[in-house]
Amino acid sequence: MTRPRFTRLQIACHWLTAALILLIVALPYGSEAFFEALLGGKGNVFTLHKSLGVLVLLLTVLRLFARRRAVEPLPAKPPLERCMVAAGHGLLYLLLLALPLSGLLFGSRPFSLFWLVEVGPLPLSSDVRGLAKDVHILGQYLLFAMLIGHAGAALWHHYVRRDDTLKGMLPLLR
Ligand code: HEM
Ligand code: HEM
Repeated sequence: MTRPRFTRLQIACHWLTAALILLIVALPYGSEAFFEALLGGKGNVFTLHKSLGVLVLLLTVLRLFARRRAVEPLPAKPPLERCMVAAGHGLLYLLLLALPLSGLLFGSRPFSLFWLVEVGPLPLSSDVRGLAKDVHILGQYLLFAMLIGHAGAALWHHYVRRDDTLKGMLPLLR
């Protein structure tokens, strides 16, 4: 089989990150009444948003190290398709770093990481904070667009091309 194979660690990190992103985005956009009642106030909703965001940052750094160690055989794909896949995954990784980092940079008050330790604020000028906020807000739209394309491509491989791409990341399908 010529598909790149992912280690169990990579697969676990992939799906954990996907679940965390879903929750991180649902917290500010989902039903205010539901989340505020569940978590006991708007402050806690954002505490969880930020804490899970920091977790995504750590998981992404771990994934990037794990990725370099797991040498994957290159699949037999045309060079243009290979470039597009590499660029798409590269941009996804960049967003998984830029979104939490910009979130950490733009806050002007400390926040409580998982209600355990106070973090920040970083000593930055208001210009840098403003820029980080723009990155956080614009980055989310780019992430949504990328994820639609990413999940769409995975389903297309599975149902139209009928190859092993999705099985590589979802061993349950094997
Ligand atoms: C927030 C959600 C998601 C994020 C951030 C994400 C991110 C990524 C990233 C960065 C990679 C590249 C892994 C690497 O080569 O090191 C990847 C691979 C992959 N993802 Fe996702 N993903 C998400 C959701 C999904 C979903 C919903 C599906 C399926 C419908 C999916 C299917 C796959 C597959 C099949 C691969 C392997 C592609 C290959 O073999 O080249 N992902 N994902
Ligand atoms: C993968 C990680 C993250 C993602 C995908 C993400 C995504 C988002 C989204 C979709 C919003 C809603 C924006 C809007 O209302 O238009 C938001 C708002 C916000 N995020 Fe994040 N975020 C992440 C990490 C973080 C982190 C680590 C922090 C801080 C430590 C943070 C701080 C904030 C704050 C303060 C807001 C409210 C912005 C405002 O409306 O003034 N985020 N984030």
